[in-house]
Order: sequence, then C-alpha cells, then structure tokens
Amino acid sequence: MKLKDTGISKEELKALVSKYMADTYERFDFVAETAKDMYLYDENGEAYLDFYAGIAVNSTGNCNEKVVAAIKEQAEDLIHTFNYPYTIPQALLAELICRTIGMDKIFYQNSGTEANEAMIKMARKYGVEKYGPDKYKIVTAKNSFHGRTYGSLSATGQPDNACQIGFKPVVPGFTYAEFNDLVSFTEACDEDTIAIMLEPVQGEGGVNPATYEFMRGIRKLCDEKGMLLLLDEVQTGWCRTGKIMAYMHYDIRPDIVTMAKAMGGGMPIGAVCATKKAAGAFTKGAHGSTYGGNPVCCAASYAQIRELLDRNLAENAEKMGRYFIEKLKNLPFVKEVRGMGLLIGVEFTKEIAIGVKHGCADRKLLITAIGNKIIRMVPPLIATEEDCDKACQIIKESIEAL
Ligand SMILES: Cc1ncc(COP(=O)(O)O)c(C=O)c1O
Repeated sequence: MKLKDTGISKEELKALVSKYMADTYERFDFVAETAKDMYLYDENGEAYLDFYAGIAVNSTGNCNEKVVAAIKEQAEDLIHTFNYPYTIPQALLAELICRTIGMDKIFYQNSGTEANEAMIKMARKYGVEKYGPDKYKIVTAKNSFHGRTYGSLSATGQPDNACQIGFKPVVPGFTYAEFNDLVSFTEACDEDTIAIMLEPVQGEGGVNPATYEFMRGIRKLCDEKGMLLLLDEVQTGWCRTGKIMAYMHYDIRPDIVTMAKAMGGGMPIGAVCATKKAAGAFTKGAHGSTYGGNPVCCAASYAQIRELLDRNLAENAEKMGRYFIEKLKNLPFVKEVRGMGLLIGVEFTKEIAIGVKHGCADRKLLITAIGNKIIRMVPPLIATEEDCDKACQIIKESIEAL
C-alpha cells in the first residue's frame, strides 16, 4: 500500500499512529512503503540502506522473490486451518530444518518469545517428569534477552531494563549467572536445576559472543549433572553468525534450541527444535498454538531456508562480517567492535549511539542502538563489500556531525 493511494498525508498518518497506537516505539521519521534486497524505500521513493533488516529478519534480502512467490502460491491454496489436518508446508519444513541442523523434532510457534516459552515449558516438564516436582529451575545469563512474554521475560537476566520495569513479580524458578563465566554458572546450579539457557551471542545485551571454552564447559556441566542445554538462537540462528546455527561454531549440540527471525523471511514464525529425549515431554495436549505451523508462514520459511542454504549465505555472513568489523575499528571514539558473522556491535567511548543512529537515518542508513554506547548492525546476509563501505562511511559522517 502506498501513501499516495490512501489520500492521507504523512503528517496525518503520524497523527493516527500517535492517537490510536500504544506509544512503545521510538520511530524513524519516514514511512516504509516498499523494500527490495538491501534497500527500504520511503513515501518519496528515497532509498535507505538497510543494515537492521527488520531486526535480523530479512536475511535473504528484503522481499526476496522466492519468498514472495512462495507466500503468493500458498495463500492461493490454503491460508489457515489449524493443526487438525496434516499440511504439506509444515511437513516439508520440519524435515528440512531437522535434517539440516541435526535435531529430531520441531514444534512451530509464531515468534521468538513464544519459541522460548515452549523451550522453557519443555525443559520443565522433562525435569519434573524425570526427576520429581522440584526439578524445574533454569539458570540463565545476566544481561541476556529472551523476549517479552512472562516466561521469556523472567529468563531475561536484566532486572533493571525497561522491558522488566513495572512487570514484577516475574515467574519463579530462574536464577542468573555471569555470561562467559563457567564458575559462576557452576555455582548457580543446585540440585533442583534442570537446565541452563543461553544465547550463543548476547544480542540485546550488547553483542557479546560466548567463548569457545565457556560454551563447551557449559555443555560438559549439563552432561555431568543430567541437565539440559537450552540455546536461544532466535537472533543467531539461520546463518547470521557465519554458520547455519551459532552452536556449530562450538562443536556442540544443544538439547533444545529456539529460532525465529531469519527463518521466516519476514513472516511471523518461530520454532523450538529438540532431541528425541527432550521432545518426549511434549505429549498430546501438553502444548499448542492456533497459528503455529500456519501454512503460509511455513511455505515462506521453506523458501527462505532453501535460499539461505542454496546461496551459502552463512559463508557470505562470515566473510562480510570479518571485512566490516575491520573497517568499523577505524571509526572515531571506538572502544570495541564485537560480533560474529553479520551480527555486529560497536561500543563507543562516549554516549553517542542514539545520536549516531538518528544521524545515520538522516543520511539514509538504517542501524539500531543498544543503550547509548553501542550501535548494532544486522544487515541482510546478501550484503557486499560496497554495502559495508557505504555503511561505514555514513556512520563516520554521523559521528563527525555530532
Ligand atoms: C535472542 C532473542 N530471543 C528472543 C527474542 C524475542 O523474539 P520476538 O521479538 O520474535 O518475540 C529476541 C528478539 O530480539 C532475541 O534477540
């Protein structure tokens, strides 16, 4: 839909949003009308270089033509039916995902936070059925982010973040340990702990990759204590970090892993994948979702994942990530550049991140900020060296203009 076809002006549109929508988002001052590959286009047809990709979603590029075709084709046949009959897109996608990432079973959800809810529920049910009613505790990392519904919010180790303020009390049964500190996690686990839950790279927490030793140590700890390793790959999954799943960097396999964002090519889908052992907790009636496994979302996801794999976009993410990180290190006021593949954060020595983000938007580059010291870039995985050069130049100009 284009603004010119609606008969209302941009200012009138903004007034509608302000009057009728809850005020939770800080907006860029343009209307996103269309998008293609690396670019988003506003109401005047102006192009914005997209280095946030709908927050790490549009990994095969905006409006990827194979994803668009899959959506159109499936929508003509069947949009929704719930999970009573079998549907073709669900089955084909389940096989593709499980075989590609080496897991046994999948359960479909509609978002990242819902996928994490399912993971937490699966782990708890596994624990209480196998060991007894007290075995339900989960240790997660300080500074983590797992979503905004109550289970995921409670797993999130950021008690002072805006996403938790005003929402206490959280769900009991979660304790928090220091990320990348095996001793801290070992001490936080007690006899009632059933699982450790982690992001391989803390995204919202400031783009902090887990070290190889830490992740392998956590896997060993879980094995020794009969606990499950739960990985939240909502942001890191499906090629973003330079491997299909980020856990592949660590030569480990989790017991349960979640995914969303990139898997849908822009359609709302998430999933929890598990080993046979853990997935056994999801017996008939134990969990469900009206939309989870929606045929259009599954068809889009199938096309998206095939694109990611067929074009080997994990390799491009790895290559471009290395190139971009080296360039970003030369920016002014940089304290540290962190990342894995094309999930990259730049921490500044000064509180300039929000100013830089808006300066970039004014100069037609879209990035995000975490707090006021870190900017985050998660472009489509089709990004080229020229795209990275252009983005780096605009960030530099935005810093210098502050
Ligand atoms: C690691 C991680 N987990 C969970 C979520 C929540 O996903 P959603 O917004 O789809 O609910 C996010 C969102 O940014 C995330 O980065």
